[in-house]
Amino acid sequence: MDKIVVCGGEKLNGSVSMSGSKNSALPILFATLLTDDKCKIKNVPELADIKTTIDFLNFIGKKTDKKEDIVSAAESSVLNHIAPYDLVRKMRASVLVMGPLLARLGKVDVSLPGGCAIGARPIDIHLEAFKKMGASIELKEGYIKIFAEKGLTGTDIEFRFASVGATENVLLASVLAKGTTRIINAAKEPEIQDLADVLNKMGAKIKGAGTAIITIDGVKKLSGFMHSVIADRIETATYMIATAMTKGNVTLTNVQPEHLKAVIDKLQESGLDIKTNKNEIKVKWTGPLKPVNIKTEIYPGFPTDVQAQWMALMCLVTGNSIVEETVFENRFLHVCELQRLGADIKIDGKSVYISGVDNLSGAPVMVSDLRAGAALVLAGLCASGKTEISRIYHLDRGYESLEKKFSMLGANIKRIKE
Ligand code: UD1
Repeated sequence: MDKIVVCGGEKLNGSVSMSGSKNSALPILFATLLTDDKCKIKNVPELADIKTTIDFLNFIGKKTDKKEDIVSAAESSVLNHIAPYDLVRKMRASVLVMGPLLARLGKVDVSLPGGCAIGARPIDIHLEAFKKMGASIELKEGYIKIFAEKGLTGTDIEFRFASVGATENVLLASVLAKGTTRIINAAKEPEIQDLADVLNKMGAKIKGAGTAIITIDGVKKLSGFMHSVIADRIETATYMIATAMTKGNVTLTNVQPEHLKAVIDKLQESGLDIKTNKNEIKVKWTGPLKPVNIKTEIYPGFPTDVQAQWMALMCLVTGNSIVEETVFENRFLHVCELQRLGADIKIDGKSVYISGVDNLSGAPVMVSDLRAGAALVLAGLCASGKTEISRIYHLDRGYESLEKKFSMLGANIKRIKE
């Protein structure tokens, strides 16, 4: 398995372009199943999860390929309604196949996604919504079998929690349902808005995406589309924090600063100099940062996907701070690894108490999940000596050209193939 080796101590300097959003590209790729027409998606990052999704679409019957950042989905022939374990186990977002296949075929069999490193992550909200729309659900031989042979019917669906995936799945299912669906307490993440933009380009009638109530008037048929996915706000936040940690001066291009208000506000509160233009963020360390507490929340709150990176930053800021995680249970797997590098942190329930130290020192560490991996890379960029990071396949799921981008900015980082 490949490893990343970082020798810390270099300040990041220069300019780097951010990639398209993984979390936006994934549901948009699944949206291609809603039409028999050709679709073209631009600004798609080169990531393991994207490859898994393309393999998945080809398995289902939608011929799809990727050249550079462009994914093309051809006219479909016959779609298959079974999503087997081998495909679903690789990526939790595979459950987004449920909405479109239920809408197109009136049935879908999806292998149960199971747990994952950052908590139980059930899909009860997705399934409850499909039931309300008239589907029946069976659990058999490790598969969730969903039927809606007479089609889905629009209705009011109130989520107990504003789940991103459930909002996307219901959007994907309801665009072809009979009548009107209203999602109440919908997720408001920018990726939801991006998916709704695509669906509307296909001929769907969606209003209110990006707010807590989304209204979808079902249509009979959807057509092909061309779309460029939004910038990856989590990748952008990661590079902003890396610049802060290495006392650097970096310009991030091809970004959408409006999606990062919570992170920018907290970094500015800590004392980092940040200037934003339309598609650019300039980040400059001008002096020691102050400790700042964060609490993860649904959008537009502080993103859970930036919690681990923020913690790495606070480990090196003099003073005490608290990180509270409210979106996922058990999303502190990076704590032990940061401790191995010399961080002074302790977990108490949903909170982590951090006492900033002057230095971290390099050590072998192991990645437990995608954003935990990002936190370890950031810590390695500042630690004295060598940090050897293993199980980096998690990082390859979500960061395009990570070591190339950091090298371009002056970091001493390389991938070792084993
Ligand atoms: C998406 C993102 C992920 C991000 C998360 C929260 C993608 C591919 N992934 O994940 O990077 O961390 O949003 O911003 O876009 N839950 C239930 N029942 C459900 C669904 C969710 O209890 O049916 C719980 C989960 O266990 C979790 C919380 O709700 O504790 C958030 O989950 P959700 O918003 O659905 O996240 P994902 O769509 O899985």
